[in-house]
Amino acid sequence: MTDEEIKAEFPIFEKRSGKPFHYLDSAATSQRPADVIEAVSQFYYEKNANPHRGVYELAEQATESYENARQVIAQFINADPTQVIYTRNATEGLNLVAYSYGLTHIQKGDHIVISILEHHSNLIPWQRVARAKGAVLDYMYTENGSGKITDEEIEKRIVPGVKLVAITQVSNVLGIVTPYEKIIARAHEVGAVVVVDAAQSAPHLSIDVQTLGADFLAFSGHKLFSPLGIGILWGRKDLLEEMPPFLSGGDMIDSVSEQDAVWAPLPEKFEAGTQNAGGAVGLAAAIHWMNKIGMDTIEEREAAVYDYAWEKLHSLPHVTVYGTGEGKHVGAIAFNIDDAHPHDVASILDADGVCVRAGHHCAQPLMGHLGIHNCCRASISVYNTKEDIDALCDSILKVRKWLGYES
Ligand SMILES: Cc1ncc(COP(=O)(O)O)c(C=O)c1O
Repeated sequence: MTDEEIKAEFPIFEKRSGKPFHYLDSAATSQRPADVIEAVSQFYYEKNANPHRGVYELAEQATESYENARQVIAQFINADPTQVIYTRNATEGLNLVAYSYGLTHIQKGDHIVISILEHHSNLIPWQRVARAKGAVLDYMYTENGSGKITDEEIEKRIVPGVKLVAITQVSNVLGIVTPYEKIIARAHEVGAVVVVDAAQSAPHLSIDVQTLGADFLAFSGHKLFSPLGIGILWGRKDLLEEMPPFLSGGDMIDSVSEQDAVWAPLPEKFEAGTQNAGGAVGLAAAIHWMNKIGMDTIEEREAAVYDYAWEKLHSLPHVTVYGTGEGKHVGAIAFNIDDAHPHDVASILDADGVCVRAGHHCAQPLMGHLGIHNCCRASISVYNTKEDIDALCDSILKVRKWLGYES
């Protein structure tokens, strides 16, 4: 497919076509293809009812749409649908594991290991579990702030006594793909359970939970061309079966008496309350759309633009790009401009229709590790082109002049 054909799949580019629009913030949330918007509209136009609640035809159609979506999502990650739990987002999935599994299995003195690359969503829940249980939270650091977690670091931090390892597959700041396979293998060697944060990987890389070998995996739909408010937690069946519910209320029980309740089987045990059925339908449509384009094509197109951006940003004066670029990267590239606050940079870029994120990116410990407080982040998705990167770089070249510097 040509660049124009891919862009044409996303109505927002047509809607904003009168002025420059270079959307480089897909790590925050992606744009949605027409297929997804139409599938969600169709659900609300034709099938809207509360799934699992009614016996009339419309309610059954809503249930069918909602459960068919689960099958599609299960196939996408090669999972059994009963182990695919709907959540609002990756954050909720990670919290579910922390509160339901972590609080019941982590004991005083146990160690939990995460990496310094983690987004706060895969960091604060573990701080809270560690504090509540008297456990110790340890970090795997990257070599000289490069973003690379070495084999030695993995061996040094994941040792007997570690009961849980939580790791992102892709850094939301540096875009680096972590050595998650080695981390999972090492964690299992010492008997630890592994939680994988796939929020930044699922939009870019194929995921097969059977070969991955992790125990839990969470991702958000909205970074993957889907509506806001839908996410997925996948977990190992035996663990999910013995874990207590996270939230309780309607639809997660088999039966309730005055003083007791019997939980529903998986996955409903973890799906209390009315669910985002429209979001589920949208996520399934997004997966169909990704399959239509092809995961290989998505990876290939993104890699070409990512490499171009990496090279070009390095060639600009007064620009620092974070990380070394060694190893596979997808999505995000982080940078700063000398003497310019990232918020000023992002505002100046916005005047040229270039959308980047600025701040600590919900990764404050990583900022400390990199020796900065904040930075800009450009992030690349399948609809981005080299022209978007040229616009980014042209705009970057104006920043210091706007701020009163001679060059
Ligand atoms: C690596 C990573 N993990 C988790 C999250 C949390 O995702 P959400 O806000 O959709 O729950 C994000 C969001 O940016 C992320 O980048």
